Amino acid sequence: MTPVGYVDRTLTCDGVALADVAAKAGTPCYVYSAATILANYRAYEDALQRTPHTICYAVKANGNLAILRLLAKAGAGFDIVSGGELHRVLKAGGDPAKVVFSGVGKTAEEIDAALAAGIFAFNCESEPELALLAALAQRHGIRARVALRVNPDVDAATHAYISTGSLAHKFGIDIGEAEGVYERAHEHGNLLLEGVSCHIGSQQFDFAPIMQAVDRVLELIARLRAKGFSIRHVDLGGGLGIAYKPDEPAPPIGQFAAALREKVTGKDLHLLLEPGRSIVGDAGVLVTRVLYRKKGGDKEFVVIDAAMNDLIRPALYDAHHEILPLRASPAGCGLRADVVGPVCESADFLAQNRQMAEVFPGDLLAVCTAGAYGFVQASNYNARPRPAEVLIENGSWRVIRSRETLDDLIRGEE
Ligand code: LLP
Repeated sequence: MTPVGYVDRTLTCDGVALADVAAKAGTPCYVYSAATILANYRAYEDALQRTPHTICYAVKANGNLAILRLLAKAGAGFDIVSGGELHRVLKAGGDPAKVVFSGVGKTAEEIDAALAAGIFAFNCESEPELALLAALAQRHGIRARVALRVNPDVDAATHAYISTGSLAHKFGIDIGEAEGVYERAHEHGNLLLEGVSCHIGSQQFDFAPIMQAVDRVLELIARLRAKGFSIRHVDLGGGLGIAYKPDEPAPPIGQFAAALREKVTGKDLHLLLEPGRSIVGDAGVLVTRVLYRKKGGDKEFVVIDAAMNDLIRPALYDAHHEILPLRASPAGCGLRADVVGPVCESADFLAQNRQMAEVFPGDLLAVCTAGAYGFVQASNYNARPRPAEVLIENGSWRVIRSRETLDDLIRGEE
């Protein structure tokens, strides 16, 4: 549920006027609702109450320390994909015993750090990775818990760049070859082969492909158990979509989690999920200011101070984000325009051909549903400092990451 709405024509997030935040924190600026993040997390927890489970929030969606701390305090585990994300989780007070490490390209240094931290499990994606993990675990004198990430060869029916579950993708081990891999990996005495994991893609609205993948994973688990492997946990990844358009409502978290719960009930499995977008996506907006209006032929452009370097989703995935004026216009949506940033690329747009409220230089806008894969994918392209991040919690707000300075841009350079 979005925390954003108008009160007397003023756009608010959890009751806080976004214009007040913009006046003090400046623009562009990401603003997140702690209450929404926690409500989304609890929707997973509530649906899984009667099932042994751990919700491992996918740090890649939004890795700000304050957000990780919020989730850690609520009891969440974490899905990490790098040593950097592990560092963040540990700094935020996350429990390493609830951390899973995913990704096709873990380095020896990253594996070492995760072993030293004592994470719950490694989601391994290739035989060379298993061999490296085994060697490093031996050096640490421990047994590393492993789930093979299998590729179930299912089409996730989402954007090509965020679809991961068919054999054409780099992810996972072909499910048809997984048994052989478990058998060979069994030779490594330092691996505890106790799990199977799977993630077929992100921003999914249709449960059917996920359920098909889950069925294939559960069949594999039955076969592995028949061969004597003691499989104790199944990690079904993340992937639930959220509503970026008001008229395209997303499936509720509770319904999604309950469908997964049904699948594993009675199978003596600890269920892990790795949701990212569905925890933080609808909890955030990017607040930006209109700099100029200009025309190009018949086209209208609204030039704003946020750009593709701040929020790359429209440029990269053709993603739609609603754009709302912070002060509601009584005139309604009388403008059709491209909303563009200052970056020198024609892909630098946050909306194209958008019917929107009439806006003028100086006006403030909120780019909605920007809590996931927003700031984390921001860059310094065109030597633009990355935006500030703000968290609204218990009726007040605070900066949880300062806007970068010009000196931040050149730190470490000669
Ligand atoms: N687990 C694994 C192994 C993943 O690769 C991902 C996302 C997740 C969990 C979390 O999935 P979620 O619940 O957020 O769908 N930057 C793109 C999304 C990339 C997703 C990458 N993997 C975007 O802005 O749409």
